[in-house]
Amino acid sequence: YGSTDVNKNGNLEIGGVDAVELTRQFGTPLYVYDVALMRERARGFKQTFEDLNVKAQVAYASKAFSTVAMIQLAEEEGLSLDVVSGGELYTAIVAGFPVERIHFHGNNKSREELEMALDQGIGCIVVDNFSEMELLQTICQEKNVKVSILLRVTPGIEAHTHDYILTGQEDSKFGFDLQNGQAEEALKTAIGFDYFDVLGLHCHIGSQIFETTGFLLAAQKIVEKMAYWKTELSFEAKVLNLGGGFGIRYTKEDEPIPPSQYVGEIITEVKNLTKQRSLTMPEIWIEPGRSLVGDAGITLYKVGSSKEVPGVRKYLAVDGGMSDNIRPALYQAKYEAVLANKPLAKASETVSIAGKCCESGDMLIWDLPLPEAGEEDILAVFCTGAYGYSMSNNYNRIPRPAVVFVENGKATLVVKRESYEDLVRLDLPLK
Ligand code: LLP
Repeated sequence: YGSTDVNKNGNLEIGGVDAVELTRQFGTPLYVYDVALMRERARGFKQTFEDLNVKAQVAYASKAFSTVAMIQLAEEEGLSLDVVSGGELYTAIVAGFPVERIHFHGNNKSREELEMALDQGIGCIVVDNFSEMELLQTICQEKNVKVSILLRVTPGIEAHTHDYILTGQEDSKFGFDLQNGQAEEALKTAIGFDYFDVLGLHCHIGSQIFETTGFLLAAQKIVEKMAYWKTELSFEAKVLNLGGGFGIRYTKEDEPIPPSQYVGEIITEVKNLTKQRSLTMPEIWIEPGRSLVGDAGITLYKVGSSKEVPGVRKYLAVDGGMSDNIRPALYQAKYEAVLANKPLAKASETVSIAGKCCESGDMLIWDLPLPEAGEEDILAVFCTGAYGYSMSNNYNRIPRPAVVFVENGKATLVVKRESYEDLVRLDLPLK
């Protein structure tokens, strides 16, 4: 998984650094990110667009993992950035990310968030609904500033992992419905408003998708409307943003397709469709989150207590859990893991990895084949780079782990471990 290896000490190695050594230096639990792999993923997406000679923006969906260092890495790789809150925007600003390459998403942006975005000179706002459109119009008028926008549309396609279902009228909290006239009404309002520069359209069909079909269907539906709007409203979209959602390999069962294939097929489809309808080929924007950072991250835990339920199972507990990775509890997400201090040792038993939270559902992995493990062992869980740290929490007042970046044999601390003092920092006494 990712680019981990086994070194001459027989330990797991990531980014040329010994994983066991990392836990000695930085403690556990510990999030570790392979920087070279994240660069490779970013370049893979960008290269595909270049090879196909298509104008594009690859925006990193920072919800997957937003920290100052990560945003700076995205900047170094020439990515754009997708933020969905004032907090993500603030992080990007602190990181020094060029604001004109930031796209602001979200279905309930507040006045404060919109004002902050406009004051900072945001690259583009993805307008999600009519109330937001009105609010943004008011603010633009008050401030006398123009802003570039995309309209988020719901094409009526809901993509699930291996599956997708087609619904005439999608029941989603996001976006203007493409089928029932909502999107058209929104577009009319937007193009009639002097302070908006309507760049084009956006859609996002789901996450952890393993097929291109959903993307192609979405593109078909939107391009069809684009052709109609060109004739009816004299509006031609300069940008078509098809969102993120490209799946990654968490376990052996997952079979993702390479980014070049997603992007290649999408572009071919949009090129053909626009040509058939005599439309100018729009810029294609995408917003990968998981596929840029997911498999570059591992989490290292110290093995702790164990419990046998005779004839049923053995629980092996680690010093983290749903507080640093809520995905198994929330989505029944599956992960693979090895012992970082003996990754090649043969499995001798099947154990279920429990977290330390006071919650029965706090299980990280069910039925994992593992060599006999005890308190000196380090468990490495793979592919935790996306939606791990970003969805971490302080349930049971467990401090968030530290985050380390590794590259070329060098480890750099990029997020400090939370302390107990941090946990009570905002608390005020009763009297
Ligand atoms: N663009 C938009 C508008 C999105 O809503 C999302 C994800 C993305 C891009 C990035 O999707 P990605 O490439 O990372 O799949 N917490 C869940 C995932 C939620 C995704 C929400 N939106 C998880 O842990 O699986």
